[in-house]
This record gives sequence, C-alpha cells and structure tokens, in this order.
Amino acid sequence: MLLEPIQRAKLDETDDTLFYDAPRFVTHVDDGFIQQLTDLYRQRLTPGTRIFDLMSSWVSHLPEEMTFEHVEGHGLNADELAKNRRLDHYFVQNLNQTQLLPLPDQSFDAVVNTVSVQYLQKPEAVFAEVYRLLKPGGIAIFSFSNRMFYQKAIQAWRDGSEAQRVELVKRYFQAIPGFGHVEAIAHPSTLPAFMQLFGMGSGDPFYAVLAQRL
Ligand SMILES: C[S@@+](CC[C@H](N)C(=O)[O-])C[C@H]1O[C@@H](n2cnc3c(N)ncnc32)[C@H](O)[C@@H]1O
Repeated sequence: MLLEPIQRAKLDETDDTLFYDAPRFVTHVDDGFIQQLTDLYRQRLTPGTRIFDLMSSWVSHLPEEMTFEHVEGHGLNADELAKNRRLDHYFVQNLNQTQLLPLPDQSFDAVVNTVSVQYLQKPEAVFAEVYRLLKPGGIAIFSFSNRMFYQKAIQAWRDGSEAQRVELVKRYFQAIPGFGHVEAIAHPSTLPAFMQLFGMGSGDPFYAVLAQRL
C-alpha cells in the first residue's frame, strides 16, 4: 500500500469544504517561488494547448505572455476560482470525498498543481485521474514548498523532511503505470531550519515533481 491509513490522517478531520468555505485572497508562497514556477511552466508548457489547474485558487502562475487553448480550473472555493482570470472554466470538488473528475479521457496536454498535494488523502486515486486526463505525451507538474495549512496536511507530509516529501510525490507518480521517468527539481532552503524559524529565511524552497504520460 502506498500509504498506511494513519499516514493519510489530518489533525483537522472536519470536512475540507468547511475549511475552504471563506475565500482566502492571499498568495501562499513568495515571489521567488512563483518566479521559479512560472519559469518552469515557460519551459515545459506549450502555447495553444489545454491546461488543467488542479486545486487552484484566485491566482494563476501560468506565464502571462503565454496563451492557451483552454485553461480548466478546479478547487474548493468558488469565489476564489471566479476571480482567477486565467481560467476559462472551473468547478468545485472535494478530492478527499470524490476523486473521479468530470472531465473526459486524454483531454489535457498538461495538469498543474501548486502547493496543494499535501492535502490529498487518496493521492493514488487522484494521480490515476491525472493520468487518465492527460493525452499521451502530456505532462503533469506538481510543485510545493515547505508551507502548508498544518492541520489539513496528511501525516506522511507533516512528519516528512523536505527531501522525503519529494520522494513521496515521486512515489505517487510511480504508483500509476504509464507515467514515464519521474523528474524532481529541488531548490531547498540555503539556511538551516532554526534560522528560518526566526524569519531569517532565504526565500521559500522550491520543489517540483514532473512526469509525462507515455
Ligand atoms: C494553498 S492553496 C493553493 C492554491 C493554488 N494552487 C495556488 O497556488 O495559490 C490549496 C488549495 O487546495 C485546494 N484543496 C485543499 N483541499 C482540497 C480538497 N479536499 N479537495 C479539493 N481541493 C482542495 C483548495 O482549493 C486550495 O485552494
């Protein structure tokens, strides 16, 4: 089994929909992180293609100068998604209750997910959906930092080091036959953890795990 039941547990086990009931018009990571992510999208996404932003909010990290055929959004707060100007269409769905997505097979060239993978309690079912939605040759890009809503992150994430979280997301991909080589990009913090605790950070660490559907 990919994760034991205890590793999927959250400190706050109330319905996620309640936690995301009120919109949060904030950015969850710093400018340095967003710059690295946008640069990665610039390199790996293709203009004119179909993109699915899984677990999205009111901001998009897609490069402003790139135009796409269609950007589909998904999240838990409709007010946040309504404000996201990059989305052509969006829907709200709690992935910890229902993993099957209301989207056709092989309908996207890329699936992106930003600073949200830590909240998935059934990641193997969600990654199977990501695979199903991708066209052959399509790419999935999951990025994350060290910030989180601690009470809503699964135990495996909370208890892991940053390096272990990268390995965990790699395993999520590897659990689904049909994804090719899983690539990880890691730009950890350059200062020791205790200095970051005192606000002496060198910027949010940046991690991305990527794989193509074969
Ligand atoms: C930290 S925010 C990140 C939002 C966005 N990707 C960004 O980069 O700003 C986490 C997002 O995960 C989504 N999320 C959390 N738990 C979820 C769940 N159980 N089902 C679906 N989406 C969830 C919420 O919609 C929320 O916007």
